[in-house]
Amino acid sequence: MKAILIPEFGAPEVMQMGAWETPAPGPKEIRVKIKATALNRADTMQRRGVYPPPPGESPILGLEMAGVVEKIGDGVTKWKEGDRVCGLLGGGGYAEYCVTHEDMAISLPDQLSFEEGAAIPEVFLTAYQALHWLAKIEAGEKILVHAGASGVGTAAIQLIGLAGADAIVTASAGKHQTCLDLGASHAIDYKKENFEEVVKELTDGAGVQVIVDFIAAPYFQMNLNSLALEGRLVMLSLIGGVKPEGVNLAPILRKRLQIIGTTLRARSLEYKIALTKDLQTNCMPHFASGKLKPIIDSVIPWTEVVQGHQRMESNQNAGKIVMVVS
Ligand SMILES: NC(=O)c1ccc[n+]([C@@H]2O[C@H](COP(=O)([O-])OP(=O)(O)OC[C@H]3O[C@@H](n4cnc5c(N)ncnc54)[C@H](OP(=O)(O)O)[C@@H]3O)[C@@H](O)[C@H]2O)c1
Repeated sequence: MKAILIPEFGAPEVMQMGAWETPAPGPKEIRVKIKATALNRADTMQRRGVYPPPPGESPILGLEMAGVVEKIGDGVTKWKEGDRVCGLLGGGGYAEYCVTHEDMAISLPDQLSFEEGAAIPEVFLTAYQALHWLAKIEAGEKILVHAGASGVGTAAIQLIGLAGADAIVTASAGKHQTCLDLGASHAIDYKKENFEEVVKELTDGAGVQVIVDFIAAPYFQMNLNSLALEGRLVMLSLIGGVKPEGVNLAPILRKRLQIIGTTLRARSLEYKIALTKDLQTNCMPHFASGKLKPIIDSVIPWTEVVQGHQRMESNQNAGKIVMVVS
């Protein structure tokens, strides 16, 4: 099959179209003819050689796909050839075919295109896990989402609205309208404003119940200061650095805060299957009805993967960059 390969680690230009062995489905696995995949920050890190795939996963980039079931392995009961699916992958999305466990595939509603399907798994599973499994959000709570116009951020805003909670976001100014259109009640321009002060004003000094964070070190103190009593901080990335300086930890005890970190890719198959089933049950009907929307920044042919990575690494995207595989 054709696949995008990384013969050496480095800049986006190292990626090349090449040939790779077509994977064979094992027991309980299906082979999917990939129609579309989507870019993730993790792909750019793996390409640079700083984020190796977990043991046993394909070394090919690509953490999600949408396509058509093309071959079923022994013991598969959920799918038949020709079914439209999307799903999270441990790797291998930048290719014509992938194999996945039958329970990791999500039925793609007829109303959604393959491009839309490819934009769902990684960001919605991540946001769902952060908000519902980890932070356990409740209706009426106020939730601060950093990088609100990111793929995960745009999914989080929608899931917060669906849960009857209130999303406040930080994002660069040009991306505010995207966040507000999705239901955020307020967008903070973190380049000009101090988000801690704005949160204080918006919550009459009480703080927010939950923060979804990607920025880490430079935001750590302000995040602690911005949380309400019994607030939960879910850390999903370390974009800004790993070593906060001069942090006052007192708010953690004084406000009984919880700090929770996670990476989805490293979770066990059982965990990812359980999360996928939750998304299938609780979210896919809302995609079919149009209440939830995959937010797509741009759709490019996979021959333009270099430009796609450049766009993501220069923070130009709002929502997902989707690649059509042909
Ligand atoms: N832990 C997990 O399981 C998990 C799963 C999926 C993704 N992630 C991580 O979550 C992050 C978001 O992923 P994504 O695919 O949604 O990313 P994305 O769509 O590429 O968006 C990331 C956004 O972060 C903002 N940003 C970048 N640097 C920043 C900085 N220094 N300070 C403030 N904002 C900054 C930029 O938006 P602005 O223009 O608004 O600044 C950028 O567009 C990535 O780091 C990814 O690796 C983690």
